[in-house]
Amino acid sequence: MTPTFRTSQPVSAADPSKPHMILVGLPGSGKSTVGPAVAKCLTRSFLDLDREIERRCGQTVAEIFAEMGEAHFRTLERQLTEELREVGNMILAPGGGWVTNAEVVRLIRPPGQLVYLRVTPETALRRLGQMRATRPLLTRPDPLAQLRRLLAERRGAYEAADHVVDTELLDLQRVIDKVADLAAGRRGG
Ligand code: S3P
Repeated sequence: MTPTFRTSQPVSAADPSKPHMILVGLPGSGKSTVGPAVAKCLTRSFLDLDREIERRCGQTVAEIFAEMGEAHFRTLERQLTEELREVGNMILAPGGGWVTNAEVVRLIRPPGQLVYLRVTPETALRRLGQMRATRPLLTRPDPLAQLRRLLAERRGAYEAADHVVDTELLDLQRVIDKVADLAAGRRGG
């Protein structure tokens, strides 16, 4: 049975013969802002994996972490990724930790293409602002230290993406344009 997702555009537009583009990076790197804008620009579907997990569970990610633990959340990420193998051509934004499970990444890459939105922990924290409260891994007393630790642990996985877009020195529109160029197969954007 074809899985159903609540995407920005009908899933019928999600051509299984075409690869997904998957945005990865720290919380605050801009995945959930850049993703929908790129999808709109290219008339592709966008799916935020965290929002889809929340929709299906009827609970926020913070509630899932608190009640069932991080391991359960990672299982839900894996299950959703398995379903995404059945469709293609979407712009996907998984949570920042999705990329750390190589087995899960291998479910859709290749042919999926990973784009790393690189950001420093300082900028990520500034961009998150009040939204930090919704990230269970960042509600501890020193969120900057926590983001630095996450980056140190994940850098290898992030940098192994097919493309890296450094968001530090670019305004949002430039980041969107660059990712859209990559997603459309226009190199050097
Ligand atoms: C996580 C990032 C969050 C969310 C969960 C765990 C992580 O998503 O999936 O809180 O491990 O970095 P964002 O990257 O959208 O904040």
